[in-house]
Amino acid sequence: MAIHLIVLAAGEGTRMASDTPKVLHEIAGAPMIAHALGVADMIDAGKRVVVVGHGGQAVEKAVHTIDETIIAVEQTEQRGTAHAVLQAAPALSDAKGDAVVLFGDTPFISSDTLTRMQNARANGADIVVLGFDAPDPGRYGRLVMSGDTLEKIVEWKDASESERAITLCNSGVIMAEASTLLRLVASVTDDNAAGEFYLTDIVALGREAGLSARVVTCDPTETLGINTRAELADAEAIFQTRARLSALENGVTLHAPDTVHFAHDTTIGRDAIIEPNVVFGPGVTVESGARIRAFSHLEGCHVGSGAIVGPYARLRPGAELSNDVKIGNFVEIKNAQIADGAKVNHLSYVGDADIGEATNIGAGTITCNYDGVFKHKTTIGAHAFIGSNTLLVAPVSVGDEAMTASGTVVTRDIPAGDLAVGRARQDNKSGFARRFFKKLRAARAAKQKG
Ligand code: UD1
Ligand code: MG
Repeated sequence: MAIHLIVLAAGEGTRMASDTPKVLHEIAGAPMIAHALGVADMIDAGKRVVVVGHGGQAVEKAVHTIDETIIAVEQTEQRGTAHAVLQAAPALSDAKGDAVVLFGDTPFISSDTLTRMQNARANGADIVVLGFDAPDPGRYGRLVMSGDTLEKIVEWKDASESERAITLCNSGVIMAEASTLLRLVASVTDDNAAGEFYLTDIVALGREAGLSARVVTCDPTETLGINTRAELADAEAIFQTRARLSALENGVTLHAPDTVHFAHDTTIGRDAIIEPNVVFGPGVTVESGARIRAFSHLEGCHVGSGAIVGPYARLRPGAELSNDVKIGNFVEIKNAQIADGAKVNHLSYVGDADIGEATNIGAGTITCNYDGVFKHKTTIGAHAFIGSNTLLVAPVSVGDEAMTASGTVVTRDIPAGDLAVGRARQDNKSGFARRFFKKLRAARAAKQKG
């Protein structure tokens, strides 16, 4: 049966020292909260309820950009994690089945781990808590066990010396039947060191009511909670390490894995080769057998099979490279379709354009797409030859098999098969250079003497 998600994201995140709500800070180009919610796509998720508070409107907007069906509920005052879960009660009043509490600042909980927690539920545990063994448990809540049974969770602030010695810690992730969870949460009080309503109290309350509680554990990298910029950087590093490994496992060659930076959604086909120092922004797909050469930056683009990009190329959103396209050094492509086998090899800007099959774009070509107010389109047909340093003043079109002379400024459409020459005619002045330099050198010699 589908499981409901309650994601807590109302906290202030003071230690980030930021004007941006904590859960909107990005890992691999996507807000933390998107990573936390991402697990919903990998399990049979029911309702997804996000509890917002600090920076609530911005968080709600971000969440609805991910998916409009996600429910955002507001916690106006941050009175603790149990109080936060309680705000989700109206949204889940008629919810059947289980619910799991996740934290918006804990982005790496895997679907595998949630499945293991669901198995523990299926095997009869009423409450399942996700724990992890921490060599240095700091201020995490401690899991107090008796045999296999979890008796209670003690917050660090309230823990005795011997309880603080426990290394089995609370991740914050708790799973139970939705109705049980909400009933228990409603009976939590704020009688503790912090004066907060602790979600963790539901374990002892549940045990008193005769419910069973079990712990499922996972690797501490999964339960990493982000409270500071340093932890955000750690999270980014964890994400990158995993993304590199998974690319390698999927048959992608990375010459220097540690220097390649992936986005949360980068897709790379088998037998693609990624050279050192390549950065992928969000929304990139690279088809199998393509090669991305060193120091290239790609975002929001598609690279067809067998294409070669870079070194030092920049592909911006809307760059669509078909098969066997070549994009060379210091070339920028934006919002442009480049058809099979076309080449843009050196020092060019191609934006808002359509380039036909096997067309060659010479060095230094620029599509002048912007008039200061509007963007205009350049269309170039198949098998065309654009001479070096051509300026294409859009809107303009170049027909199939047409040609431009080097240095041409194209301001009118060029019919198929034509040559456009648009530059001043060359005039050679016989012997001028020699006479001119002779005069200059003589002037210098006279100056040095005097
Ligand atoms: C919590 C757990 C602790 C666990 C740790 C793991 C409790 C009482 N303690 O402590 O056992 O080891 O997480 O990281 O649950 N939030 C709200 N509204 C609130 C308070 C918090 O939405 O009123 C959200 C925060 O935005 C955050 C999450 O709940 O996403 C956890 O809150 P936080 O204050 O970080 O709890 P910890 O003290 O870390
Ligand atoms: Mg925390």
